[in-house]
Amino acid sequence: VFANIVRAPEDPILGVTVAYNKDPSPNKLNLGVGAYRTEEGKPLVLNVVRRAEQMLVNDKSRVKEYLPIVGLADFNKLSAKLIFGADSPAIQENRVTTVQCLSGTGSLRVGAEFLARHYHEHTIYIPLPTWGNHPKVFTLAGLSVKTYRYYNPATRGLDFEGVLDDLNAAPSGAIVLLHACAHNPTGVDPTLEQWEQIRQLMRSKGLLPFFDSAYQGFASGSLDADAQSVRIFVADGGECVVAQSYAKNMGLYGERVGALSIVCRSADVASRVESQLKLVIRPMYSNPPIHGASIVATILKDSNMSHEWTVELKAMADRIISMRQQLFDALQAKDTPGDWSHIVKQIGMFTFTGLNAEQVAFMTREYHIYMTSDGRISMAGLSSGTVPHLADAIHAAVTT
Ligand code: LMR
Repeated sequence: VFANIVRAPEDPILGVTVAYNKDPSPNKLNLGVGAYRTEEGKPLVLNVVRRAEQMLVNDKSRVKEYLPIVGLADFNKLSAKLIFGADSPAIQENRVTTVQCLSGTGSLRVGAEFLARHYHEHTIYIPLPTWGNHPKVFTLAGLSVKTYRYYNPATRGLDFEGVLDDLNAAPSGAIVLLHACAHNPTGVDPTLEQWEQIRQLMRSKGLLPFFDSAYQGFASGSLDADAQSVRIFVADGGECVVAQSYAKNMGLYGERVGALSIVCRSADVASRVESQLKLVIRPMYSNPPIHGASIVATILKDSNMSHEWTVELKAMADRIISMRQQLFDALQAKDTPGDWSHIVKQIGMFTFTGLNAEQVAFMTREYHIYMTSDGRISMAGLSSGTVPHLADAIHAAVTT
């Protein structure tokens, strides 16, 4: 009965790792998926995470019962505080409902399913370009996806006029997907002044902000600074939807730990929203896993551990920034044709190089460097030892 099934293509991002794993070359380099590596090219488990895990293991009172449908209560409260700020009026007024979900993707999906069932407007505007999974998540949830201009390839920066024009032309009430910080794949964010203009425009048109916050702490190294975009929207008292992930900032990739928050106008509305979120979650995966959320809650509720986390997070962010400088310097030293200053200007985990699909294919074929075909490089996968190899490959790709 399954004989006619057609083979599906690999995922454009995770499929890069599949191809990388098959390559026997000792020089191969995976700059595809956004996953942090140490200077030695190894995955990193943060010390504070190890410590939290040890505490959880030692606590014999802990059991493996089901969590509630909405997840671990402490985790939800602490996650809301992390993104909205400890003194957020929305939290104090109980206008926020937060549910634990399966990392960023799961939070986006639950949020989108909820909106498709309960929100009057089914069109979501996503930036062009955006993370490859966004359109799939929203379409399968039943929303209709349109794009707004975001990135200007000529300046390798923000097309701010394009953002404003396209959002201005969107129908009133439409949902707008915004990357809270460290836009993936471009590494280009609006300034705070530009965010404020976007907020004014969106509020005047009644557009609903749906933030994807996958890199809090990775853009600037400061958790508060990276949440400013979200906080200015919440400060005006209006509604807001936020998906949070702890994959990158706590290195909890495989634990699938994230949260969806919906900021409402009143505590009563928030509690009704939560009751409907439970109806979305229960038939999908019943309730979320306990381990990753317990790690996060253990860290966030202890001020020493929270501080230790911010130090380790800053170290990851700083290493990425230093990789940007080293790659830029290496290309300068080789006199590689073109302006490569965007490598140091862009922020977060990725550089959107401007290399085209053919050049990427060339670098994979000749240099065993794996990256997404849109020319995105995960700077978090690079180290001082591999920068020269990448610089050689880029130089060859643009000169051959
Ligand atoms: C990425 O963009 O590389 C990450 O968000 C990982 C993923 O799931 O695609």
